[in-house]
Amino acid sequence: MAEAGGGAGAVRMVLLGPPGSGKGTQASAMQRRWGLVHLASGDLLRANVKENTELGRKARPYMDAGELVPDELILDMMEDRLSQPEAQAGFVLDGFPRTLAQAEALDERLERREQRLAAVVYLRVTEEEILRRLSGRLTCPQCNAIYQVDTMPPRQMGICDKCGSALVQRADEQPEVVRNRLRVYEEQTAPLAEYYRSRGLLHEVDGAIGVERVLAEISRMLEQAAKQAQAG
Ligand code: AP5
Repeated sequence: MAEAGGGAGAVRMVLLGPPGSGKGTQASAMQRRWGLVHLASGDLLRANVKENTELGRKARPYMDAGELVPDELILDMMEDRLSQPEAQAGFVLDGFPRTLAQAEALDERLERREQRLAAVVYLRVTEEEILRRLSGRLTCPQCNAIYQVDTMPPRQMGICDKCGSALVQRADEQPEVVRNRLRVYEEQTAPLAEYYRSRGLLHEVDGAIGVERVLAEISRMLEQAAKQAQAG
C-alpha cells in the first residue's frame, strides 16, 4: 500500500481482537509503513502508571487484575490524544474502543467532525495460540516495541533492537490474569464485532498467519474499502 487509504484521504481505523491477537504488532507496523498514528490505550495507560500520574494511580488496580479501566477515564484520555494535530492525518486505534459505551462515544466524536471510520479489523486467533504467545512476549517499556521469544526474538536476548532498553514481561501476563483478560474480552469487548458488522465496517482477518501476511491482508482490505467508499 503506497499511501494510507490508497490515496482516499485520512484513514481512521480500529483493530479489534482478544489480548495477544497482534493488535499492537500490526498497529506499529502500520505506523512505520504507512505513517498512521498508532493510538494504543494500553500503552497510554502504562505510561501513566510509570509516571505515577493521577490517571495511572486510578487505572493500575484494574490493569493488574485484568479488568477494564472505567469508561470515563479512558474516554478523557482518548479524547485528548485524538485531538492532537498529528492524529488529524489518520490513525489506527489499538485497544480502544473496548465497550459499547466507548464505541458509541467514538462514533459521536467522529460524527461531530464529519469523519468516519474506514474499517474495523478483527484479528481472529485461538485461545491456545494466545496463551502460547503471551507466555513468551517481551515488551520494551521505553518505546513499546513487541517481541516473542520463540517467533520474534530480539537480536540480543532481553534488549530492545530499536532503543537498546531492557525488555520486560508485562505485569498483566501471569496466566491467571491473562485468563481473566480473555473472560473480560468475551463479555465486554467481543460484542463490538456485531456492533461494527451491522454498520458494514467489520473485516475479519486470520491473525494466526505470519505478521507480514496479516499486514498484507489488512492492506488489501483497506484498499477495497477505499474503492467501495469512492464508488458509493
Ligand atoms: P492492552 O495493552 O490494550 O492489552 P490487550 O488488548 O489485552 O492486548 P495485548 O497488548 O496483550 O495484545 P495485542 O493484541 O496488542 O498483541 P501483541 O501485538 O502484543 O490493555 C491492557 C490493559 O489496559 C487492559 O487489561 C485494561 O485493564 C486496560 N485498558 C486498555 N485499553 C482499555 C480500554 N479501552 N478500556 C478499558 N480498559 C483498557 O502480540 C502478542 C504476541 O504475539 C507478541 O509477543 C507478538 O510478538 C506475537 N505476535 C503478534 N502477531 C503475531 C503473528 N501474526 N504471528 C505470530 N506471533 C505474533
